[in-house]
Amino acid sequence: MKIQKVGVIGCGLMGSGIAQTCAQAGYTTIVREISQPLLDKGTTRIYGAWEKMASKEKITKAQLTENRDRLHGTLNIEDLADCDIVIEAVLENMEEKLRLFPALDHILKPEALLLTNTSSLNITQMGAVTRRADKICGLHFFNPAPVMKLVEVVKTISTSEETIETVKQFAVSLGKTPVLAKDTAGFIVNFLLIPYLLAAIRMLENGAATREDIDTAMKLGCGYPMGPFTLLDYVGLDTTLWAAEAIYEEYKDPLYAPSPLLRRMVQSGQYGRKSGKGFYDYK
Ligand code: 3HC
Repeated sequence: MKIQKVGVIGCGLMGSGIAQTCAQAGYTTIVREISQPLLDKGTTRIYGAWEKMASKEKITKAQLTENRDRLHGTLNIEDLADCDIVIEAVLENMEEKLRLFPALDHILKPEALLLTNTSSLNITQMGAVTRRADKICGLHFFNPAPVMKLVEVVKTISTSEETIETVKQFAVSLGKTPVLAKDTAGFIVNFLLIPYLLAAIRMLENGAATREDIDTAMKLGCGYPMGPFTLLDYVGLDTTLWAAEAIYEEYKDPLYAPSPLLRRMVQSGQYGRKSGKGFYDYK
């Protein structure tokens, strides 16, 4: 299957990073948001990233113009009708995804692949509400999507081998290294990462050390690029909570039980960098 046009649903933190990645890899990319302000915010973020890359001479001025020409924003889901691949990157809300998938199934051409960037929700269930379960799988990017080299390709019990092969090749064409995971909550990375992040929050709650010292310890002691609290703020506390809840729901393992502090921070709108405050202040 020749992939020429890619659709991305959602232009938030992940959706904009995914749309940026696809457009700069040479694909005509159309990204859909539900309101003009959200679309403008996301596309402005992408243009800003390309301007920064041009100023650092990572891309030429001509490439910057080409990238911009390949990226199109829309509020109308029907504009994605002729896409070869569509990547869903909306909020981690299963009800929303179960509304979106049949709508996309209806609009897209029969051979199009429908992928989700979900980090831990049940992809088999998303496929089951369409007539193309064999053409549905996960393609999970990591934040920041244009920079992080990994993608998880997630196979459900209904995904065909042909779909998986096409998606792996697509991932390589984006400059990513794909790993294959089964559709189990958390896949590979979040299954291992979430207990680590939750343990750091528990340490802070118990007063074992300050957030700064825990961050410094893991950065300098383990060579991680960010300590757990910087990473939590970077990924988003809301995203972390949803991932933890989804994995806990599946296994009922206390390792994945969100701590009271995490839940209260999310309830009070302290999502991390994107809201200006999380474990650290960004205002
Ligand atoms: N587009 C293009 N380039 C970008 C970019 C973007 N959107 N965002 C950052 N970059 C570039 C910067 O320009 C910079 O380029 P340079 O090296 O040529 O100057 C490079 O990426 C590194 O960025 P910075 O200099 O700003 O900062 P750092 O060197 O500190 O790196 C980082 C930032 C890449 C975020 C690094 O700290 C890191 O790897 N952190 C860990 C991130 C991580 O673990 N992500 C996974 C989270 S888990 C997840 O997402 C799953 C979810 O389901 C929960």
